[in-house]
Amino acid sequence: MSTIKRDIKMSVQKLNRNIFQRLFGICVTKKPAKKDGWKAENGRITVDLKAMPELRNRGTAVRLDGKGFEAPLLLVHGDDGEFHAFENRCTHGKRALDPVPGTETIQCCSVGTSTFDYDGILIEGPAKGPLRVYKVEHADDVLSITV
Ligand code: FES
Repeated sequence: MSTIKRDIKMSVQKLNRNIFQRLFGICVTKKPAKKDGWKAENGRITVDLKAMPELRNRGTAVRLDGKGFEAPLLLVHGDDGEFHAFENRCTHGKRALDPVPGTETIQCCSVGTSTFDYDGILIEGPAKGPLRVYKVEHADDVLSITV
């Protein structure tokens, strides 16, 4: 394990969720309020950040699903200031994921709380492997995600 990974592991924090939220896999992250703030076509998701105020601050996220693409997606405005996109399925039991603000990590909403870094690498928990990470391009106020 590299020094960087060791340092992250030492800083793993759990989101504050109650046992029922954990048992039923109720995640913190919501779908965007405005349905027309994003679209999916030809293997690409395009997000208009001006129409998605949920992502204004670092440590925030939205869930994107429907609109015909294969897997649900978690889109995070990271603590590092960059945008990160993941398949929104934990590799343990396919529960949804949330960012843990201030830690540069992503965490499963279920009891196991598997925790991953922004590269999708498992840091802690029972998950079977890394998260699927999608490439995000950012120009002006538009994100383009290849899925
Ligand atoms: S489903 Fe994620 S830790 Fe079990």
